[in-house]
Amino acid sequence: MARKLTPEEQPWCLDRVTKQVLINKGLENVCMDKSTICFIDGFHSKLYYRGYSIEDLARNSTYEEVVYLILHDKLPTKRELSDFSGWMREERDIPGQVVELLRKIPKDIEPMEILRTAVSYLGNLDPGRYDMSRDGMYRKTIRLISKMPSIVAYWHRIKNGLDLVEPDPRLSHAENFLYMLHGKRQEELLNRAMDVSMILYAEHEMNASAFTAVVIASTLSDYYSAIVGAIGALRGPLHGYANVEAMRQFDEIGSPENVDSWYRENILTGKKRVMGAGHRVYKSYDPRAKIFREYAKIFAEKYGGKVKNYYDIAYRLETLVMAQLCEPKNICTNCDFWAGICYYAMGIPIDLYCAVFAAARTVGWSAHIIEYTADNRILRPRLYYDGEVDKEFVPIDRR
Ligand code: CMC
Repeated sequence: MARKLTPEEQPWCLDRVTKQVLINKGLENVCMDKSTICFIDGFHSKLYYRGYSIEDLARNSTYEEVVYLILHDKLPTKRELSDFSGWMREERDIPGQVVELLRKIPKDIEPMEILRTAVSYLGNLDPGRYDMSRDGMYRKTIRLISKMPSIVAYWHRIKNGLDLVEPDPRLSHAENFLYMLHGKRQEELLNRAMDVSMILYAEHEMNASAFTAVVIASTLSDYYSAIVGAIGALRGPLHGYANVEAMRQFDEIGSPENVDSWYRENILTGKKRVMGAGHRVYKSYDPRAKIFREYAKIFAEKYGGKVKNYYDIAYRLETLVMAQLCEPKNICTNCDFWAGICYYAMGIPIDLYCAVFAAARTVGWSAHIIEYTADNRILRPRLYYDGEVDKEFVPIDRR
């Protein structure tokens, strides 16, 4: 006779104290391991990489230095940083086969899917692809971090029928990315803002994409599969693609005067969510959003026009969110709300924003893969079984 299981038959789903079924939907607040990579204090707007505050890093550091910090758990000396940056610069080239592949992909494919395909193919070409040793993964990490911006820039130029621009080893990681994208060097303010954006996006604890990477790595699959999975997770609009969706939302609103009516029609009625607002961990203002917002303001004042229009729409929408969603539901605007306006000021097309995020985040994913697999245990949660068991199997001709 078909029957449902009692909770007592699934004791792993019971709260030890109350003996009630305990489901952490969305794995909220589930602590799955120890880590020394990143700490988020979501109640006090604080974020630390390896113990250093994001404000200090954004103000005083560079992306290369932050990559070194995240991977080595220490700030580099001048000499170490120079050697490390030199290594990153040498690894920027992409194999010709990958460029050929990019040329063959239909031009309407999303940049995140391009990145997923290109990283997967890079893995095919790597003779050490199955090397899951710490040193092997470290080397692959440096190679991939260095190549990701080149893939994004090449895709942009191929898609738009432009000549490819070779990486320039004299330029920093951020500066070189903008150079390869636009075919000419950019002004210092834009280069610095790109560098800071990459610092802000470099790492963020056990979010959906890092978790995906670690789940894959925990099966002792390979490094590239883990990164490809992470790219797939980041591509969702609830995660990294929110920086694209936030800009599309500003486009839909059109002008600052429309914000209030748009908000009434879409948010107050529950038809839509504000893209670039809310966070599983931050119950206070996202400290990265504050830094992106400062740059967005500088760009709005400096460049005016469409950048200022985006800024003014975002400013009014944020005011409504902070007044109406922050207090009752702890929903504040997040980094993805403001990041796109900065990228827009840098002349980057909107559909590329999540791919830029992914290029920067590869260091965080890699650090978690390396840390977790150093003391590996396969990740394998349970589900509470809410169906029936012991159903009678009826042969197909009697159904
Ligand atoms: N706009 C309006 N209401 C919201 C929003 C939002 N952006 N986010 C959450 N809520 C409401 C939601 O409707 C729910 O209300 P109620 O309790 O009345 O049903 C409540 O807040 C809790 O929402 P939830 O979906 O249970 O929260 P979550 O922790 O599962 O989701 C989130 C977090 C980031 C997916 C969500 O806030 C969201 O969808 N935000 C919009 C997309 C976005 O900006 N994502 C980027 C996140 S930050 C960077 C990154 O990770 O990439």
